Amino acid sequence: MLKDKVIIVTGAGSGIGRAASIIFARAGAKVLATDYNEAAVQETAALVGKAGGTAKAMQVDVSKEADVIAMVDFAVKSFGRLDGAFNNAGVPMHGKRVDELSEGEWDRVLDINLKGVFFCMKYETLAMSKSGGGAIVNTASANGLVGNPNSVEYIASKHGVVGITRGAACDAAVTKVRVNAVLPGVIKTAMVNDLLVNPEMKDFFDTTLARHTVGRLGEPEDIGYAAKWLLSDEASFMNGAAVCVDGGYTAR
Ligand SMILES: NC(=O)c1ccc[n+]([C@@H]2O[C@H](COP(=O)([O-])OP(=O)(O)OC[C@H]3O[C@@H](n4cnc5c(N)ncnc54)[C@H](O)[C@@H]3O)[C@@H](O)[C@H]2O)c1
Repeated sequence: MLKDKVIIVTGAGSGIGRAASIIFARAGAKVLATDYNEAAVQETAALVGKAGGTAKAMQVDVSKEADVIAMVDFAVKSFGRLDGAFNNAGVPMHGKRVDELSEGEWDRVLDINLKGVFFCMKYETLAMSKSGGGAIVNTASANGLVGNPNSVEYIASKHGVVGITRGAACDAAVTKVRVNAVLPGVIKTAMVNDLLVNPEMKDFFDTTLARHTVGRLGEPEDIGYAAKWLLSDEASFMNGAAVCVDGGYTAR
């Protein structure tokens, strides 16, 4: 589905980004796997290799513009062009109420989850436009459509990702770059695994699980498969969509 497409994945050191890197490579893509955590993303590239795919690894902090410029340059220098990107790096909420949250905590989450996606879209679009266009998928969240307690900064960032996805999608006739978002429900990754084993969080997770009307929480691959399709030519009429991959979380 992605044969010979050159695709950047951010936040590829773990969870959804790692699973997506392997899924994209199995579908024929050449992957530049990037993450803040260099050891983790090297391991992802090795896993792609073991699965028979092609990947390079690079340490990138998406909240730093210079890192993002270098990331896109490296993808083009390594593989000759850029066709797609999965802008997935993100950090969770601090778990505080609106009246407890500090300015620094707000800025940290917005800088990584929202400004990071802006930087990525900007430089990826510039590169893709040079070779006839491409496709971008941004990872938002079910929290990009609804609210939840103790997470205003995360909710702001993910509503923002849905918004800038729609905004950038409106430039597609000129840029030739389609832009869509995936909105995961609760996915069993490092981001939530620690919380799942915390007895104090049991009631919260029982309630949350009940809202996933398929009767289970998500796996990283559930999001990787959706992103693979959105990046493929089969989705060539998809643009500006906020695609819920949330087991029915936002359906009720
Ligand atoms: N797990 C869930 O339930 C869930 C639900 C909805 C949305 N999401 C979103 O999915 C995305 C992936 O999360 P995950 O669940 O796989 O979590 P994860 O913690 O397993 O992976 C996130 C990765 O992002 C990297 N990262 C963090 N800050 C970075 C930065 N500044 N620059 C580059 N990389 C950075 C981390 O090192 C990590 O490898 C995030 O955007 C998250 O908000 C997750």
